[in-house]
Amino acid sequence: MDCDQKALECLYDPLSFEQGVPLDELAELRRDAALIRVEEHTLPQWPGGEGFWLVLRHAECMQVLKNASVYSSHLGGTQLRDPATPDDLAYVQKMMLNMDPPEHTRLRRLLINAFTSKAVAQLETQIEHHAKSIIDRVIDGRVQGECDFVKDIASDMPLLCLADIFGLPQEDRYLMFDWANRVIGYQDPDYKSSSAFDRDRGSDIAREALKRRPEPDEQGNMPDPRTRGGMEDLYAYAHLLAEYKRRQPGDDVVSILLAQVDDEAGRVSIEEFENMFWLFAVAGNETLRNGIPGGMIALLEHPQAWRAIQAQPELVPGAVEEMLRWWTPVMVFRRTASCDTELAGSRIGAGDKVVVSFLSANYDERVFSNPMDFDIRREPNDHLSFGYGPHFCLGAQLAVAQMRAIFGELARRFESIEATAPPRYLRSNFQRGVKSLPIRWRARAKGA
Ligand code: HEM
Repeated sequence: MDCDQKALECLYDPLSFEQGVPLDELAELRRDAALIRVEEHTLPQWPGGEGFWLVLRHAECMQVLKNASVYSSHLGGTQLRDPATPDDLAYVQKMMLNMDPPEHTRLRRLLINAFTSKAVAQLETQIEHHAKSIIDRVIDGRVQGECDFVKDIASDMPLLCLADIFGLPQEDRYLMFDWANRVIGYQDPDYKSSSAFDRDRGSDIAREALKRRPEPDEQGNMPDPRTRGGMEDLYAYAHLLAEYKRRQPGDDVVSILLAQVDDEAGRVSIEEFENMFWLFAVAGNETLRNGIPGGMIALLEHPQAWRAIQAQPELVPGAVEEMLRWWTPVMVFRRTASCDTELAGSRIGAGDKVVVSFLSANYDERVFSNPMDFDIRREPNDHLSFGYGPHFCLGAQLAVAQMRAIFGELARRFESIEATAPPRYLRSNFQRGVKSLPIRWRARAKGA
């Protein structure tokens, strides 16, 4: 299919995502083809590249994601943007997200074993507790008020949950807020040099790590966060945390992970742990900070769904699945073809960049009837928001638990929620991010 390549820039130009996502364009393209070839022009916020295949339909996305021997996560990493240098590529390749079996399988198994059912049950109990305390803090004894849903409600939940997973003092969680902003918001002036962490609070480990925080240059730009040098403070923190947990293990997931012995290759090395820490601090954080407001936007635009979950809390789990589909917090992931192959009739060459669009797959009319509708009773709801195949999201269960807890609590505690200004979106072609969502709320009368 011949496409107007200028018109396709909206599929990858980070600036255009500040205005919203190209759902109509994707629907039109998906109607005619399962995948398209996209040139990568150099744009003010995009370095350009050799171009990529964009996979648009649900079945073909699954085909790519499940077949790691043909569609590699390792060869070129998993980001749409190519690593700038061979060293940068070698650096990201050390992360499990960017590995193929069998290296990937070993690390993934160690991590899965660390999430014991006891540890997960404990985390889920904590999640319920965090949801209540976040809403208590917002209501603060008042009948009505205004707040920023992103800052005051959504962003703290994943940080608190990560602090529990890592077994670290809660005050240190704002370091993870800053790190995730730097990595995911590297193109956004509001996020790229985030520094919310209060130097006077937090643990000794945090203070030690802060000494390694890179400084912005004269234009306010931080070093590239997808290099080790760009995240020295994170690595210093992870290193000190691992040493501490090995000396004084707790009952948190990280202590369990670091104590494990793997038959084939010994236990997790400190270097492997540092890279896992990076992945969790970013993957377990920004995704929910965007997914929770995305769910709220869906409810604001569909008041009947909000009223339904208020009246029937048992609808919350289905509503959360539909929020994940409708919003799709992570829009794309990349693979690289390891050999010449064919997908839906298109010839793909060895080394080609193949990008799966979760956003497009989640609106594929072949799988979801009336995909533009937000239907909290949709059944089945086989969205791909957590990916598919060997890299399926390791935090999916915890992510769903956090969303259920927050929306359950919101529906229980608030009579009404309305937007007071339009949301502001993140400048990113990777995460469907919400930077602010100002709301006015009215609490339910006690006992109502
Ligand atoms: C709504 C929230 C979330 C979304 C939409 C999401 C999405 C995803 C997706 C699409 C992948 C697959 C990547 C690929 O195929 O290359 C993934 C992987 C991953 N996610 Fe999540 N995620 C979320 C929350 C979390 C949380 C809370 C954690 C940790 C606590 C987490 C940890 C991970 C890890 C470690 C991987 C890598 C798995 C691997 O390489 O085997 N995610 N996530």
